[in-house]
Amino acid sequence: MPATVLVGAQWGDEGKGRIADWLATESDVVARYGGGDNAGHTVYVGQQVFKLHTIPSGILRGQVMCVLGNGMVVNPVNLVKEMDQLQALGVTITPERLLFSTRAHLITPAHIALDAASEKARGAQAIGTTLRGIGPAYLDKTGRKGIRAGDMANIEEFADALHQSIREANEVLARQDMATLDADAAVAPYIEAAARLQPFLADTAVYLNQRLQEGARVLCEGAQGTLLDVDHGSYPFVTSSSPTAGGALTGLGIGPGRIDRVVGAAKSFSTRVGAGPMPTELTDALGDRLRGTGEHFWDEYGTTTGRPRRCGWLDAVMLRYAVLINGCTELVLTKLDILSGFEELKLAVAYRVDGKLLDYPPTTNAELERAEPVYETLSGWQEDISGARRGGDLPAAARRYIQRIAEVCGTPVHTVSVGPERDQLVQL
Ligand code: GDP
Ligand code: IMO
Ligand code: MG
Repeated sequence: MPATVLVGAQWGDEGKGRIADWLATESDVVARYGGGDNAGHTVYVGQQVFKLHTIPSGILRGQVMCVLGNGMVVNPVNLVKEMDQLQALGVTITPERLLFSTRAHLITPAHIALDAASEKARGAQAIGTTLRGIGPAYLDKTGRKGIRAGDMANIEEFADALHQSIREANEVLARQDMATLDADAAVAPYIEAAARLQPFLADTAVYLNQRLQEGARVLCEGAQGTLLDVDHGSYPFVTSSSPTAGGALTGLGIGPGRIDRVVGAAKSFSTRVGAGPMPTELTDALGDRLRGTGEHFWDEYGTTTGRPRRCGWLDAVMLRYAVLINGCTELVLTKLDILSGFEELKLAVAYRVDGKLLDYPPTTNAELERAEPVYETLSGWQEDISGARRGGDLPAAARRYIQRIAEVCGTPVHTVSVGPERDQLVQL
């Protein structure tokens, strides 16, 4: 049976968690392939809000096996906390439900401290990272000095490696006049977590390929988004991994022939958290209206850091690019309900940069900062659409908005969401 990849088609927070929860109903395995607990995936189930950071959203569907793939960077202490929190909410977490790749890299206390040090050193050029140690962990991975999950098997050597990484980090921190780490205090919870996580460790690449061979349906759950990709995003204002569809192959160890469906999750407007260019950003009352006041859990405040997200009109230039880079076979649009009540809606269909019209984003940030969106204006709708379940339930203006996005991006939209609840999905 082939695999489906779910990717974020914007700057993250597109609603991947709730879409993964839906796609999990037709999956046997759900696997995360990149990033770490910089992700925050929200799934709303019967009045309960689940915020998943490291564990795939598929865990909330009882029949699904979840996998933390080799492409991830995992904070073992935070993983154990998340497991405990889920268990307290009635979710069973056993090795029959969750496997953790021995090849995944670990986020250490040194990485977290170095993330803060790196942001401080950048000053005005700070990326606005989630401060979870993601960049330094991937830096050690590619620098071939990372600690992998499989290394937790030998506790003594694991503790030595952690102490060594903390000694090196402390030298950097001292040079920057930042507080150094107390190695013994920092290492102790890691040793405890290592013992807890032993039964979950496995060669997940072999496991996934065996399951695919047997006919299992695999969902590769992306984190972050295409425009945060280290290669394809607005470098350097990106994360340090490959959230795009290609990342699913290396991040899980499966071949390209396995993938037959690439679902791009896109919010019905644009949001971004952290620094970097965002051509359609609205810094006025319209932007505030898209963000919401914070009274609802779905308002635009970061799931991981609580920071207000930057909001703006839907940027179909970026979305068209995401469809291209990922080879999206379809887009799912989320949060369409938030657009109810707008008189008119704008859709950026091209950029004007230095007098030239562009269909795709320019590759340098300097040009992207100068890009002026070329907007199409579409009629809004006033109706509350949260109860819509079929295309015919949506006002004509909403259907036109969806259709225009599909045309401009060159890929179909079969599904839109009109609220955070499991059944608030419209099949077109
Ligand atoms: P992710 O990181 O891509 O999984 O997205 P987040 O969970 O960080 O942010 C998306 C937010 O929007 C969450 O609070 C979801 O519950 C919420 N959400 C998802 N789809 C919809 C929708 O159709 N309508 C509304 N109002 N909220 C939604
Ligand atoms: P989900 O999976 C939104 C952003 C950070 C920052 C940049 C680098 O919930 O969509 P990092 O800590 O990764 O080094 O930060 O990437 N970022 C996200 N933004 N959603 C996410 O994940 C993100 N993960 C990282 O805000 O701009
Ligand atoms: Mg999120």
